[in-house]
Amino acid sequence: MTYILALDQGTSSSRSIVFDREGNIAALAQKELTQHYPQPGWVEHDPMEIWRTQLETAREAIAKAGLDASDIACVGITNQRETTVVWNRRTGEPVCRAIVWQDRRSEPMCATLREQGHDALILEKTGLRVDAYFSGTKLRWILDNVPGARRAAESGELAFGTIDSWLIWRLTKGRVHASDVSNASRSMLFDVHRNAWDDTLMGLLGIPPALMPEVLPSSAHYGELDAEWLGRAMPICGVAGDQQSALFGQACFTEGMAKNTYGTGCFMLMHTGDKFQISRNGLVTTSAAQTGGRPEYALEGSVFVAGAVVQWLRDGLGAFRRSSEIEALAQSVPDSGGVMLVPAFTGLGAPYWKPDVRGTITGLTRGSTMAHIARAALESIAFQSAALLQAMSRDAVAAGAAPLAELRVDGGASVNDLLMQFQADLLGIPVLRPTMIETTALGAAYLAGLHHGVYQDKEELSALWRIERRFTPGMPAGMAGELMEKWERAVRQACAD
Ligand code: G3P
Repeated sequence: MTYILALDQGTSSSRSIVFDREGNIAALAQKELTQHYPQPGWVEHDPMEIWRTQLETAREAIAKAGLDASDIACVGITNQRETTVVWNRRTGEPVCRAIVWQDRRSEPMCATLREQGHDALILEKTGLRVDAYFSGTKLRWILDNVPGARRAAESGELAFGTIDSWLIWRLTKGRVHASDVSNASRSMLFDVHRNAWDDTLMGLLGIPPALMPEVLPSSAHYGELDAEWLGRAMPICGVAGDQQSALFGQACFTEGMAKNTYGTGCFMLMHTGDKFQISRNGLVTTSAAQTGGRPEYALEGSVFVAGAVVQWLRDGLGAFRRSSEIEALAQSVPDSGGVMLVPAFTGLGAPYWKPDVRGTITGLTRGSTMAHIARAALESIAFQSAALLQAMSRDAVAAGAAPLAELRVDGGASVNDLLMQFQADLLGIPVLRPTMIETTALGAAYLAGLHHGVYQDKEELSALWRIERRFTPGMPAGMAGELMEKWERAVRQACAD
């Protein structure tokens, strides 16, 4: 039997999954990650904790599967994107904590770039809008604020990487400093047409080239995981940012196929084939996972707070003890009783792009209970995703394609039937949940397996995709439209504050 190890380093936890050749889980291990909030709007991770927990889960997963390291054919890596690490090449020590994708501290820098009119050039080369979400200005912040960092960066002593690069560097004991196209495309520094770091953009942001990792296709030989870590050297053959990896794991390989992942945030991606298409509706263009040298793209909408709103109800408000309890609580009332929750804890992402907005709850009455708030919280995830899908469909139609006909879903919160049914109702198209919802990790395993020869081609992977449940829209379109209007009104109210 052939097995593939997928390392899935996410925002909330580090996970490792051993997959068999058919894409079934042989074993899974997971460890939560400490979140640091040193100031309002700032979010940090300890890179050493990321590395330690990732390695521990890899060891645990192999042991749980009852396997020996020699049973693992190859390794794939997928990761929370944009989160920025800078470390010393000689000592391996990070120069500061990692700045997490949700962190807004570099927004003033982005405002300056926009004021100076650089947004058009950045959009044209990278497909991105100028926002603190992406790694470029986070890296710049580190160079400007960590004592000695700029000088050391210029003299080649430091390395920059998103979490994929950091893990590859650690796993190969500093022999490989690399990233893949899908991660690089989230930096505002990468020309997605040429698949190369862009000198003009690097100059604009003041980033010394000596910091940058080599960029490879998502399915390629990155190097050998050192024998010390898991008992035997293993080839690292697949690397992709978690959302592009999930798109791949959902077998969305061709133009017009889309998926939504319900994780800490919510990320909807639609493959656009080899077409670099700029959104007119608030989405960004991003590199899809690539198996060869030829660029492939996707349109993406990112919701910053999705599953995190459930976490907030649990930890911030003490509404329940375990996240899974939210479904029963929300189902104890027939609807949200007019309560609307806009979870803009770190601003609003696509399609609104309002970095300064903060969360609001509207429509509270004397009769509102925690159950109504829980229901409104769950519904906010579906509302935000529906707004993304509407934007995506408008972009698809503008490009002469058909509007989206169905949506594949995955991620932790996709197990929630109430949420998925409400999602289908709002969207007015079927929502398809596959038997395997760990598609982020599966995508990395597929990318690695393809390069290593475990799989022959993408057709073979498409054949492995199986549906578990289809949620068919049941709500009259008029009612869904009214609910969306109420949601948009609540968003406007939040923005007006
Ligand atoms: O862009 C951020 C994204 O990659 C984070 O994903 O799954 O950790 O919420 P996740």
